Amino acid sequence: MRRRIVAGNWKMNGSKDLVQQLVGDIREQVSNLDDLVRSGLDVVIVPPALYVDSVVSLCGAELAAGVQNVSQWRSGAYTGEVSSDMARDLGCQYALVGHSERRQLFDETDSVIALKVARVIESGLAAVLCVGETLEEREAGEAKRVVADQVEKGLAMVGADQWSRVVVAYEPVWAIGTGKTATSEDAQAMHAEIRGVLERINAPSENISVLYGGSVKADNAAALFAEPDIDGGLIGGASLKAEEFVSICRAFP
Ligand code: G3H
Repeated sequence: MRRRIVAGNWKMNGSKDLVQQLVGDIREQVSNLDDLVRSGLDVVIVPPALYVDSVVSLCGAELAAGVQNVSQWRSGAYTGEVSSDMARDLGCQYALVGHSERRQLFDETDSVIALKVARVIESGLAAVLCVGETLEEREAGEAKRVVADQVEKGLAMVGADQWSRVVVAYEPVWAIGTGKTATSEDAQAMHAEIRGVLERINAPSENISVLYGGSVKADNAAALFAEPDIDGGLIGGASLKAEEFVSICRAFP
């Protein structure tokens, strides 16, 4: 059975005070989600790297932590970089790789992303490969091809025995932070397509969680999570509000 996952990507937001307050509030409310957590829901907090240590110490058994990005290199003279081994050392279980903001603002290419996925897996973390088309690509009828290409290239270095450490997050770029969500039908169609690509590359597609991201809120999560190929969400803005984030975690059928 695939794991259900709701991950809150704080992006470059937060402070020591916010960490205390928000993780404390989420944890308090998540304890009401015990049944869901026991039945295989991972609730993951993904803060900026500088706050990971504090977040992990506040997470307890109910929550997991992740990093937003790691270096493609193991260690060495790479000023400013953070390694996947360090993330693991601090207690992270997940690392996002290839978020569209990394692709667009930091010029991350599919080949760098593939190296990062390999590095994350090698460190014993789950790699959350983020993929998604821009508005121009969607309007040009290129969405499926673009996403399939990102999935194939991003996962090119995953070994046959490593698929249990792979999660895919479909995030249409035009839906991120815009308030425009893909309809649950459109999201489902792309998730089914992604599962088809996973099959083509001989991955055990039925066991790989595929998350949706892009303006997920408490009021649209239930429709998205009711779709058969949507296994949870990668949440940006709404993950900075405890009540809203926990409502999203409760939105599974
Ligand atoms: O990683 C999260 C996504 O970029 C979604 O962000 O929920 O603010 O649209 P958003």
